[in-house]
Amino acid sequence: MQLTSIEQDMLTGKHGPATKKAMEILAALGAIYGAEHMVPVTSVQIAGVSYDNLGEAGLSFLSEMADGGGKARVLTTLNPAGMDIENWQALGISPEFAEGQFRVIEAFARMGVVTSCTCTPYLSGNVPHYGEHIAWAESSAVCYANSVIGARTNREGGPSALAAALTGCTPAYGYHLDENRLPRVSVDVRATVSSNDAFGALGKAIGQKLEVAGEKPLVTITGIARASVDNLKSFCASIATYGGAAMFHMAGITPEAAQVAPPERIMIIADEDIAAAHASMNDASSDDVDFVSLGCPHLSIGEIARIAELLKGKRVKKEFWITTARPTRQIADRMGYTAIIEASGAKFAADTCCVVAPIKGRFRALATDSAKACYYAYSKNKFKTVLKPFDDVIAEALR
Ligand code: F3S
Repeated sequence: MQLTSIEQDMLTGKHGPATKKAMEILAALGAIYGAEHMVPVTSVQIAGVSYDNLGEAGLSFLSEMADGGGKARVLTTLNPAGMDIENWQALGISPEFAEGQFRVIEAFARMGVVTSCTCTPYLSGNVPHYGEHIAWAESSAVCYANSVIGARTNREGGPSALAAALTGCTPAYGYHLDENRLPRVSVDVRATVSSNDAFGALGKAIGQKLEVAGEKPLVTITGIARASVDNLKSFCASIATYGGAAMFHMAGITPEAAQVAPPERIMIIADEDIAAAHASMNDASSDDVDFVSLGCPHLSIGEIARIAELLKGKRVKKEFWITTARPTRQIADRMGYTAIIEASGAKFAADTCCVVAPIKGRFRALATDSAKACYYAYSKNKFKTVLKPFDDVIAEALR
Protein backbone atom coordinates (compact mmCIF):
# COMPACT_ATOMS: atom_id res chain seq x y z
CA MET A 1 0.00 0.00 0.00
CA GLN A 2 1.32 3.41 -1.00
CA LEU A 3 1.51 5.74 2.02
CA THR A 4 2.28 9.46 1.93
CA SER A 5 5.21 10.66 4.03
CA ILE A 6 2.93 11.91 6.81
CA GLU A 7 1.03 8.60 6.84
CA GLN A 8 4.40 6.80 6.97
CA ASP A 9 5.45 8.99 9.91
CA MET A 10 2.22 8.11 11.70
CA LEU A 11 2.94 4.43 11.15
CA THR A 12 6.44 4.66 12.55
CA GLY A 13 5.26 6.44 15.69
CA LYS A 14 6.42 10.00 15.02
CA HIS A 15 2.96 11.29 15.95
CA GLY A 16 2.70 9.33 19.19
CA PRO A 17 1.60 5.84 20.20
CA ALA A 18 -2.16 6.29 19.68
CA THR A 19 -1.75 7.62 16.14
CA LYS A 20 0.70 4.77 15.45
CA LYS A 21 -1.82 2.21 16.62
CA ALA A 22 -4.54 3.91 14.55
CA MET A 23 -2.43 3.83 11.38
CA GLU A 24 -1.53 0.18 12.03
CA ILE A 25 -5.27 -0.64 12.15
CA LEU A 26 -5.91 1.19 8.88
CA ALA A 27 -2.86 -0.27 7.11
CA ALA A 28 -3.97 -3.78 8.12
CA LEU A 29 -7.49 -3.10 6.85
CA GLY A 30 -6.12 -1.68 3.61
CA ALA A 31 -3.97 -4.79 3.11
CA ILE A 32 -6.95 -7.11 3.72
CA TYR A 33 -9.16 -5.27 1.22
CA GLY A 34 -6.46 -4.58 -1.37
CA ALA A 35 -6.49 -0.77 -1.04
CA GLU A 36 -3.71 0.93 -3.01
CA HIS A 37 -3.62 4.07 -0.90
CA MET A 38 -5.41 6.04 1.81
CA VAL A 39 -8.04 8.67 1.11
CA PRO A 40 -8.42 11.76 3.33
CA VAL A 41 -11.73 11.91 5.21
CA THR A 42 -13.59 15.01 6.37
CA SER A 43 -16.01 13.46 8.86
CA VAL A 44 -16.12 10.50 11.23
CA GLN A 45 -18.97 8.91 13.17
CA ILE A 46 -17.97 6.42 15.87
CA ALA A 47 -20.28 3.62 17.03
CA GLY A 48 -19.85 1.21 19.92
CA VAL A 49 -20.31 3.84 22.63
CA SER A 50 -22.63 2.12 25.08
CA TYR A 51 -20.87 0.74 28.13
CA ASP A 52 -23.28 -2.18 27.74
CA ASN A 53 -21.45 -3.19 24.54
CA LEU A 54 -17.96 -1.99 25.36
CA GLY A 55 -17.50 -3.28 28.91
CA GLU A 56 -14.14 -2.82 30.65
CA ALA A 57 -12.19 -4.32 27.72
CA GLY A 58 -13.51 -1.72 25.27
CA LEU A 59 -13.07 1.05 27.80
CA SER A 60 -9.46 0.08 28.40
CA PHE A 61 -8.73 0.28 24.61
CA LEU A 62 -10.26 3.78 24.52
CA SER A 63 -8.33 4.90 27.62
CA GLU A 64 -5.11 3.59 26.10
CA MET A 65 -5.73 5.59 22.91
CA ALA A 66 -6.58 8.74 24.91
CA ASP A 67 -3.54 8.27 27.19
CA GLY A 68 -1.43 7.75 24.08
CA GLY A 69 -2.17 11.28 22.91
CA GLY A 70 -4.85 10.39 20.33
CA LYS A 71 -6.61 13.49 18.98
CA ALA A 72 -9.31 13.66 16.32
CA ARG A 73 -8.03 15.45 13.21
CA VAL A 74 -11.47 15.87 11.57
CA LEU A 75 -15.01 16.45 12.79
CA THR A 76 -15.83 13.30 14.76
CA THR A 77 -19.15 12.57 16.46
CA LEU A 78 -20.47 9.74 18.61
CA ASN A 79 -23.28 7.23 18.37
CA PRO A 80 -25.79 6.89 21.23
CA ALA A 81 -24.52 5.94 24.69
CA GLY A 82 -26.20 3.47 27.02
CA MET A 83 -28.08 6.19 28.91
CA ASP A 84 -29.35 9.74 28.87
CA ILE A 85 -26.24 11.58 30.06
CA GLU A 86 -28.25 14.13 32.08
CA ASN A 87 -31.32 12.16 33.05
CA TRP A 88 -30.13 8.57 33.49
CA GLN A 89 -31.79 7.99 36.88
CA ALA A 90 -35.27 8.54 35.42
CA LEU A 91 -34.64 5.68 32.98
CA GLY A 92 -33.77 3.23 35.75
CA ILE A 93 -30.04 3.07 34.96
CA SER A 94 -27.85 1.86 37.84
CA PRO A 95 -25.13 4.13 39.30
CA GLU A 96 -22.53 1.45 38.49
CA PHE A 97 -23.47 1.48 34.81
CA ALA A 98 -23.58 5.29 34.76
CA GLU A 99 -20.09 5.45 36.22
CA GLY A 100 -18.73 3.18 33.46
CA GLN A 101 -20.61 5.14 30.77
CA PHE A 102 -19.23 8.46 32.02
CA ARG A 103 -15.68 7.04 31.81
CA VAL A 104 -16.34 6.06 28.17
CA ILE A 105 -17.63 9.54 27.31
CA GLU A 106 -14.69 11.13 29.09
CA ALA A 107 -12.17 9.02 27.10
CA PHE A 108 -13.75 10.11 23.81
CA ALA A 109 -13.88 13.76 24.94
CA ARG A 110 -10.16 13.65 25.81
CA MET A 111 -9.52 12.68 22.18
CA GLY A 112 -11.44 15.70 20.91
CA VAL A 113 -14.45 13.65 19.81
CA VAL A 114 -17.70 15.62 19.92
CA THR A 115 -19.80 13.63 22.40
CA SER A 116 -23.03 14.16 20.49
CA CYS A 117 -24.36 10.65 21.21
CA THR A 118 -26.73 10.36 18.27
CA CYS A 119 -27.15 7.94 15.36
CA THR A 120 -28.49 10.74 13.13
CA PRO A 121 -25.37 12.91 12.90
CA TYR A 122 -26.77 14.26 9.63
CA LEU A 123 -29.54 15.97 11.67
CA SER A 124 -27.12 17.37 14.24
CA GLY A 125 -24.28 19.18 12.55
CA ASN A 126 -22.16 16.37 11.12
CA VAL A 127 -23.39 16.63 7.54
CA PRO A 128 -21.04 15.70 4.72
CA HIS A 129 -21.79 16.87 1.21
CA TYR A 130 -22.17 14.92 -2.00
CA GLY A 131 -19.06 12.99 -3.01
CA GLU A 132 -17.18 13.63 0.23
CA HIS A 133 -15.10 10.78 1.65
CA ILE A 134 -16.00 10.04 5.26
CA ALA A 135 -15.61 7.17 7.75
CA TRP A 136 -18.83 6.39 9.57
CA ALA A 137 -19.67 3.48 11.83
CA GLU A 138 -23.39 3.30 12.37
CA SER A 139 -25.11 1.04 9.88
CA SER A 140 -28.23 3.20 9.44
CA ALA A 141 -26.22 6.42 9.12
CA VAL A 142 -23.72 4.77 6.74
CA CYS A 143 -26.59 3.76 4.50
CA TYR A 144 -28.10 7.26 4.72
CA ALA A 145 -24.77 8.97 3.96
CA ASN A 146 -23.95 6.79 0.94
CA SER A 147 -27.46 6.64 -0.48
CA VAL A 148 -29.35 9.80 0.42
CA ILE A 149 -26.45 12.27 0.64
CA GLY A 150 -24.09 10.65 -1.86
CA ALA A 151 -21.10 10.85 0.48
CA ARG A 152 -18.70 7.88 0.45
CA THR A 153 -18.10 5.60 3.39
CA ASN A 154 -17.57 1.97 4.19
CA ARG A 155 -19.40 0.44 7.09
CA GLU A 156 -16.71 1.05 9.67
CA GLY A 157 -16.33 -0.72 12.98
CA GLY A 158 -15.74 1.23 16.20
CA PRO A 159 -11.91 0.82 16.15
CA SER A 160 -11.51 1.60 12.42
CA ALA A 161 -13.70 4.70 12.73
CA LEU A 162 -11.64 5.90 15.71
CA ALA A 163 -8.48 5.17 13.72
CA ALA A 164 -9.80 7.30 10.85
CA ALA A 165 -10.55 10.12 13.30
CA LEU A 166 -7.03 10.06 14.75
CA THR A 167 -5.29 9.97 11.36
CA GLY A 168 -7.75 11.85 9.13
CA CYS A 169 -7.77 9.09 6.51
CA THR A 170 -9.12 5.66 5.61
CA PRO A 171 -8.06 2.99 3.09
CA ALA A 172 -9.47 3.58 -0.41
CA TYR A 173 -11.61 0.51 -1.04
CA GLY A 174 -15.29 -0.47 -1.10
CA TYR A 175 -17.77 2.39 -1.34
CA HIS A 176 -14.99 4.97 -1.77
CA LEU A 177 -14.51 3.67 -5.33
CA ASP A 178 -16.86 4.38 -8.25
CA GLU A 179 -17.03 0.77 -9.41
CA ASN A 180 -18.44 -0.42 -6.09
CA ARG A 181 -21.33 2.06 -6.18
CA LEU A 182 -23.00 0.50 -9.19
CA PRO A 183 -26.32 -1.36 -8.77
CA ARG A 184 -26.56 -5.06 -9.67
CA VAL A 185 -30.30 -5.67 -9.21
CA SER A 186 -33.41 -3.53 -9.74
CA VAL A 187 -36.10 -3.76 -7.08
CA ASP A 188 -39.45 -2.65 -8.44
CA VAL A 189 -41.82 -1.75 -5.62
CA ARG A 190 -45.38 -2.36 -6.75
CA ALA A 191 -46.94 -1.35 -3.48
CA THR A 192 -47.91 1.79 -1.60
CA VAL A 193 -45.32 2.72 0.99
CA SER A 194 -45.76 5.94 2.92
CA SER A 195 -45.20 5.57 6.68
CA ASN A 196 -42.00 4.87 8.66
CA ASP A 197 -43.14 1.38 9.65
CA ALA A 198 -44.02 0.55 6.03
CA PHE A 199 -40.61 1.76 4.85
CA GLY A 200 -39.11 -0.42 7.59
CA ALA A 201 -41.12 -3.41 6.39
CA LEU A 202 -39.98 -2.67 2.83
CA GLY A 203 -36.35 -2.76 3.99
CA LYS A 204 -36.95 -6.12 5.64
CA ALA A 205 -38.80 -7.51 2.58
CA ILE A 206 -35.93 -6.54 0.27
CA GLY A 207 -33.32 -7.86 2.69
CA GLN A 208 -35.07 -11.20 3.00
CA LYS A 209 -35.52 -11.65 -0.76
CA LEU A 210 -31.83 -10.99 -1.29
CA GLU A 211 -30.94 -13.39 1.50
CA VAL A 212 -33.02 -16.13 -0.11
CA ALA A 213 -31.10 -15.47 -3.32
CA GLY A 214 -27.90 -15.82 -1.26
CA GLU A 215 -26.49 -12.41 -2.09
CA LYS A 216 -26.27 -8.82 -0.94
CA PRO A 217 -25.88 -6.76 -4.12
CA LEU A 218 -26.36 -3.01 -4.31
CA VAL A 219 -29.90 -2.37 -5.55
CA THR A 220 -31.72 0.35 -7.46
CA ILE A 221 -35.25 0.73 -6.09
CA THR A 222 -37.97 1.95 -8.43
CA GLY A 223 -41.64 2.65 -7.79
CA ILE A 224 -41.36 4.89 -4.72
CA ALA A 225 -43.14 8.15 -5.52
CA ARG A 226 -41.90 10.09 -2.51
CA ALA A 227 -40.02 9.55 0.72
CA SER A 228 -39.46 12.07 3.52
CA VAL A 229 -36.21 12.34 5.46
CA ASP A 230 -37.95 10.52 8.33
CA ASN A 231 -39.09 7.73 5.99
CA LEU A 232 -35.59 7.42 4.57
CA LYS A 233 -33.89 7.20 7.94
CA SER A 234 -36.30 4.42 8.87
CA PHE A 235 -35.71 2.62 5.57
CA CYS A 236 -31.93 2.97 5.80
CA ALA A 237 -31.95 1.47 9.31
CA SER A 238 -34.07 -1.44 8.15
CA ILE A 239 -32.30 -2.36 4.91
CA ALA A 240 -28.97 -2.10 6.73
CA THR A 241 -30.21 -4.40 9.50
CA TYR A 242 -32.07 -7.00 7.44
CA GLY A 243 -30.18 -6.75 4.15
CA GLY A 244 -26.68 -5.83 5.34
CA ALA A 245 -26.87 -2.93 2.88
CA ALA A 246 -24.49 0.01 3.14
CA MET A 247 -26.01 1.72 0.11
CA PHE A 248 -28.93 1.68 -2.33
CA HIS A 249 -30.22 3.86 -5.12
CA MET A 250 -33.84 5.04 -5.18
CA ALA A 251 -35.01 6.34 -8.52
CA GLY A 252 -36.12 9.96 -8.39
CA ILE A 253 -35.02 10.32 -4.77
CA THR A 254 -31.33 9.56 -4.18
CA PRO A 255 -28.69 11.58 -6.06
CA GLU A 256 -26.68 8.85 -7.77
CA ALA A 257 -29.73 6.92 -9.02
CA ALA A 258 -29.99 9.09 -12.13
CA GLN A 259 -26.34 8.48 -13.04
CA VAL A 260 -26.62 4.70 -13.35
CA ALA A 261 -28.91 2.69 -15.56
CA PRO A 262 -31.23 0.41 -13.57
CA PRO A 263 -29.97 -3.19 -13.95
CA GLU A 264 -32.00 -5.51 -16.14
CA ARG A 265 -32.32 -8.13 -13.44
CA ILE A 266 -35.56 -7.21 -11.68
CA MET A 267 -36.91 -8.30 -8.33
CA ILE A 268 -40.53 -7.34 -7.56
CA ILE A 269 -41.82 -6.33 -4.16
CA ALA A 270 -45.60 -6.42 -3.94
CA ASP A 271 -48.07 -5.46 -1.22
CA GLU A 272 -48.08 -9.02 0.11
CA ASP A 273 -44.29 -9.04 0.57
CA ILE A 274 -44.50 -5.88 2.66
CA ALA A 275 -47.50 -7.21 4.59
CA ALA A 276 -45.62 -10.46 5.35
CA ALA A 277 -42.54 -8.57 6.54
CA HIS A 278 -44.73 -6.31 8.65
CA ALA A 279 -46.58 -9.26 10.18
CA SER A 280 -43.30 -10.98 11.06
CA MET A 281 -42.49 -8.06 13.38
CA ASN A 282 -45.79 -8.33 15.25
CA ASP A 283 -45.64 -11.24 17.65
CA ALA A 284 -47.38 -9.55 20.57
CA SER A 285 -50.82 -8.07 21.20
CA SER A 286 -51.57 -4.60 22.54
CA ASP A 287 -52.33 -6.21 25.90
CA ASP A 288 -48.74 -7.51 26.08
CA VAL A 289 -47.16 -4.12 25.40
CA ASP A 290 -45.55 -2.60 28.49
CA PHE A 291 -42.88 -0.51 26.73
CA VAL A 292 -43.28 2.04 23.95
CA SER A 293 -40.41 3.74 22.17
CA LEU A 294 -40.12 6.09 19.21
CA GLY A 295 -36.79 7.25 17.81
CA CYS A 296 -34.90 4.46 16.06
CA PRO A 297 -33.06 6.12 14.37
CA HIS A 298 -33.20 9.20 16.59
CA LEU A 299 -36.26 11.41 16.16
CA SER A 300 -36.26 14.60 14.12
CA ILE A 301 -37.75 17.78 15.59
CA GLY A 302 -40.74 17.40 13.26
CA GLU A 303 -41.48 13.98 14.73
CA ILE A 304 -41.20 15.33 18.27
CA ALA A 305 -43.63 18.14 17.40
CA ARG A 306 -46.12 15.47 16.28
CA ILE A 307 -45.69 13.52 19.54
CA ALA A 308 -46.37 16.69 21.55
CA GLU A 309 -49.48 17.37 19.45
CA LEU A 310 -50.87 13.90 20.12
CA LEU A 311 -49.95 13.77 23.83
CA LYS A 312 -51.19 17.26 24.76
CA GLY A 313 -53.42 17.11 27.82
CA LYS A 314 -53.24 13.28 28.04
CA ARG A 315 -51.54 10.74 30.31
CA VAL A 316 -49.58 7.75 29.03
CA LYS A 317 -50.23 4.42 30.71
CA LYS A 318 -47.02 2.66 29.72
CA GLU A 319 -43.30 3.34 29.94
CA PHE A 320 -42.75 5.54 26.87
CA TRP A 321 -39.27 6.61 25.73
CA ILE A 322 -38.72 9.45 23.28
CA THR A 323 -35.20 8.84 21.96
CA THR A 324 -33.39 11.65 20.21
CA ALA A 325 -30.21 13.69 20.02
CA ARG A 326 -29.47 16.20 22.78
CA PRO A 327 -29.59 19.23 20.40
CA THR A 328 -33.01 18.11 19.11
CA ARG A 329 -34.22 17.76 22.69
CA GLN A 330 -32.98 21.30 23.36
CA ILE A 331 -35.02 22.67 20.46
CA ALA A 332 -38.00 20.72 21.82
CA ASP A 333 -37.41 22.43 25.20
CA ARG A 334 -37.50 25.84 23.56
CA MET A 335 -40.65 25.07 21.60
CA GLY A 336 -42.50 23.83 24.69
CA TYR A 337 -42.76 20.28 23.29
CA THR A 338 -40.74 18.80 26.15
CA ALA A 339 -43.06 20.26 28.78
CA ILE A 340 -46.12 18.83 27.02
CA ILE A 341 -44.52 15.42 26.53
CA GLU A 342 -43.21 15.15 30.09
CA ALA A 343 -46.56 16.30 31.53
CA SER A 344 -48.07 13.23 29.85
CA GLY A 345 -45.69 10.94 31.75
CA ALA A 346 -43.60 10.03 28.66
CA LYS A 347 -39.83 10.26 29.17
CA PHE A 348 -37.16 11.79 27.02
CA ALA A 349 -34.23 9.45 26.54
CA ALA A 350 -31.76 11.75 24.80
CA ASP A 351 -28.24 10.43 23.98
CA THR A 352 -29.44 6.82 24.01
CA CYS A 353 -32.03 4.42 22.61
CA CYS A 354 -34.09 1.36 23.46
CA VAL A 355 -31.45 -0.90 21.87
CA VAL A 356 -28.17 0.28 23.40
CA ALA A 357 -29.51 0.99 26.91
CA PRO A 358 -29.02 -1.88 29.39
CA ILE A 359 -32.68 -2.99 29.59
CA LYS A 360 -32.46 -6.66 28.62
CA GLY A 361 -35.43 -8.57 29.99
CA ARG A 362 -36.92 -5.50 31.70
CA PHE A 363 -40.09 -5.44 29.58
CA ARG A 364 -42.43 -7.94 27.99
CA ALA A 365 -43.23 -6.32 24.66
CA LEU A 366 -42.17 -3.19 22.77
CA ALA A 367 -44.42 -1.06 20.54
CA THR A 368 -42.50 0.98 17.96
CA ASP A 369 -42.59 2.21 14.36
CA SER A 370 -39.02 0.99 13.72
CA ALA A 371 -38.22 -2.30 12.00
CA LYS A 372 -34.63 -2.05 13.25
CA ALA A 373 -35.81 -1.61 16.85
CA CYS A 374 -37.97 -4.73 16.42
CA TYR A 375 -34.94 -6.76 15.33
CA TYR A 376 -32.84 -5.79 18.34
CA ALA A 377 -35.73 -5.80 20.81
CA TYR A 378 -36.08 -9.48 20.02
CA SER A 379 -32.45 -10.51 19.45
CA LYS A 380 -30.73 -8.43 22.14
CA ASN A 381 -33.34 -7.60 24.75
CA LYS A 382 -35.68 -10.60 24.47
CA PHE A 383 -38.85 -8.53 24.06
CA LYS A 384 -41.80 -9.35 21.85
CA THR A 385 -42.70 -6.58 19.41
CA VAL A 386 -45.59 -4.64 17.92
CA LEU A 387 -44.77 -2.61 14.79
CA LYS A 388 -47.25 0.16 14.00
CA PRO A 389 -47.47 3.51 12.22
CA PHE A 390 -46.07 6.46 14.21
CA ASP A 391 -49.42 7.88 15.42
CA ASP A 392 -50.69 4.41 16.36
CA VAL A 393 -47.60 3.81 18.51
CA ILE A 394 -48.48 6.92 20.49
CA ALA A 395 -52.06 5.67 20.82
CA GLU A 396 -50.58 2.42 22.17
CA ALA A 397 -48.87 4.35 24.96
CA LEU A 398 -52.20 5.95 25.89
CA ARG A 399 -54.17 2.69 25.96
FE1 F3S B 1 -30.01 4.55 16.50
FE2 F3S B 1 -30.27 2.95 18.50
FE3 F3S B 1 -31.75 2.62 16.37
S1 F3S B 1 -28.38 3.70 17.72
S2 F3S B 1 -30.54 3.38 14.68
S3 F3S B 1 -31.79 4.38 17.78
S4 F3S B 1 -30.68 1.03 17.46
